[in-house]
Amino acid sequence: MTTMYIFRGPVIVFILALFSLLSTTSQHYPTCSEAFSKMKEDGHFEHCMKLPTLGAEFAWNIQEDHARQVNRIDVFFGTRQHAEIGWLAWGVNPTNEPEMVGTRAIIGIRMPNDTLAIDTYNVTAASKLGCGLQPSKIDFFKNMKINYSDTNHYFTISMTLYLPQSDYNISSLNHVWQVGYQSIGMEPQIHPTSLQNVDSAETINLKTRVSEGVGQHRHHLRKMLALRLKPKRTDKYRKFWNSYHHCLGYALLAAISVDIFLGIGILKPLDHAWKWSYFGVLGILGVIFLLFEIYSWCKFLNQKEKNNQKSEVSEQQRQNK
Ligand code: HEM
Repeated sequence: MTTMYIFRGPVIVFILALFSLLSTTSQHYPTCSEAFSKMKEDGHFEHCMKLPTLGAEFAWNIQEDHARQVNRIDVFFGTRQHAEIGWLAWGVNPTNEPEMVGTRAIIGIRMPNDTLAIDTYNVTAASKLGCGLQPSKIDFFKNMKINYSDTNHYFTISMTLYLPQSDYNISSLNHVWQVGYQSIGMEPQIHPTSLQNVDSAETINLKTRVSEGVGQHRHHLRKMLALRLKPKRTDKYRKFWNSYHHCLGYALLAAISVDIFLGIGILKPLDHAWKWSYFGVLGILGVIFLLFEIYSWCKFLNQKEKNNQKSEVSEQQRQNK
């Protein structure tokens, strides 16, 4: 009985974690912003929604042509971010995964002299390794247009796709989007790799607007690892979560400090000034850290004593009644 009781908590936590991983991540996104909707009005797009990352918005129309086994899809895609964006990409990926490699993309580029250019690109594993991404002809992209509005800072691209039904299932289409800040001529340079930039791909059902994104899976996982497993303040397991949280924080700080020492070792500076300065910085940080720790412990023990006193008083009152 006692053994069962001891194991019940961790088992519940484990089942919750599993549930969190397995639960569906399909999602309907909100419809587009008013400004984007106004811009797309010319195209009379039937569907429009905000994508989960990079402030991107996406509008489309479908015309299925079963006789020619082709789906015609009109796309209007854009984002309103700060003015420095140098290139904007949207594409489809016929492989099994919503990911960068394998994407057939349209990339709109803002040249440094503010002229606009647009072309099609085959994004390969070599592009990911930084081998340079050059335009290549992709037959199913037609009517490509690019626009940058100086007034509302929307950077948009539009196109018509004639997708062969054999290679692209529009009920489960992998689409990928991205923004970058630099290009050399028609060659876009690497984009940032922040969470927003690596979460910008998903599988979408263009007919029902339901999508399942890389970002959602990862976001969900991040939430499994942190929030869902985080017991409430009143939970008796909260103290274990707190210890895990503290230990992880300290371990990261230690790893970062050692990493910087290794970096100094690799760079082999001529004198030892860097090493000793870093010792000095660590020493100062250590003292500050120690003072904060002493303060937190005093506060913690003080609070604990107050709580004990309170519960003793209420117990006393309960017994007197
Ligand atoms: C200009 C050349 C490009 C280079 C050198 C490049 C490089 C990279 C690298 C190194 C990563 C991995 C980042 C990480 O996991 O930390 C990545 C991820 C990603 N890139 Fe690119 N990229 C380029 C162009 C593009 C384009 C044009 C698109 C969109 C059409 C795109 C979409 C993505 C997406 C969605 C991810 C995250 C998912 C994945 O790893 O497949 N990238 N890129």
